[in-house]
Amino acid sequence: MDTTESFEQLAARVSERFRWQWDEILIAGEPFRLAVASDPEGMLIEACERQDAGEQGVIDPFWATTWRAAAGLDRFLEQVKLKQVSVLELGCGTGHAGIAAIRRGANVTLTDGVDDPLMLVRMSVWDFRDRCQVERLRFGIDRIAGPSFPIILGSDVTYLRSLWPELDHCLRDHLAQAGQVFLSDPYRIIANEFRGWIQDKGWHYTEHRVEMEDDPEHPIRVMELRAGGE
Ligand SMILES: C[S@@+](CC[C@H](N)C(=O)[O-])C[C@H]1O[C@@H](n2cnc3c(N)ncnc32)[C@H](O)[C@@H]1O
Repeated sequence: MDTTESFEQLAARVSERFRWQWDEILIAGEPFRLAVASDPEGMLIEACERQDAGEQGVIDPFWATTWRAAAGLDRFLEQVKLKQVSVLELGCGTGHAGIAAIRRGANVTLTDGVDDPLMLVRMSVWDFRDRCQVERLRFGIDRIAGPSFPIILGSDVTYLRSLWPELDHCLRDHLAQAGQVFLSDPYRIIANEFRGWIQDKGWHYTEHRVEMEDDPEHPIRVMELRAGGE
């Protein structure tokens, strides 16, 4: 990360890549100005078209939408002790869950496997940059230098079976002894399968249900994982 870059230079760099805007949403119960892509659907269609045309290595811009699972995880974090705790967020997208932890006093490293969302996140957390880091972390490939984390967050990162082995690897690489992982999802069918798969890998599993006022019929699930043998 270029620490000499000004906010204006960063914003100009993002504008060269794609259209973006500020959205005001509630994070940790207070209004927050979040930098988001202006046209997530258009970006997804473009990525599909390029894939259909046979282009290799095109990454689905799922980061461009802020998923409801992030709002659920935000809500769940109300009950977690976070003050001055080191937290790692995986697959942060626009960073809602990680920012919720920052606002509750944690020192947060926000990460994603692709760079585009990380530029937006850097803008969103500009005022908190003294107690957060924004870095690229591809599950199972990259390792954040330094001590491991007592808490790891991931909102809607269990949606693809092919990601699970790398995610498991990444959690083992970064979780401190006796640490906790919190993964949220909107009760996806595939995540039901993940629940069994991850327990077979030796993780202790506890499930939490988060009721959501915006749509009470669709709560969010938070999966709590602890390393086996503790
Ligand atoms: C469904 S989005 C969720 C984004 C955000 N957490 C939220 O809830 O709004 C999944 C995120 O995981 C990231 N991701 C997908 N595969 C990844 C990988 N192999 N390593 C790291 N991040 C990955 C995507 O770039 C995307 O930001």
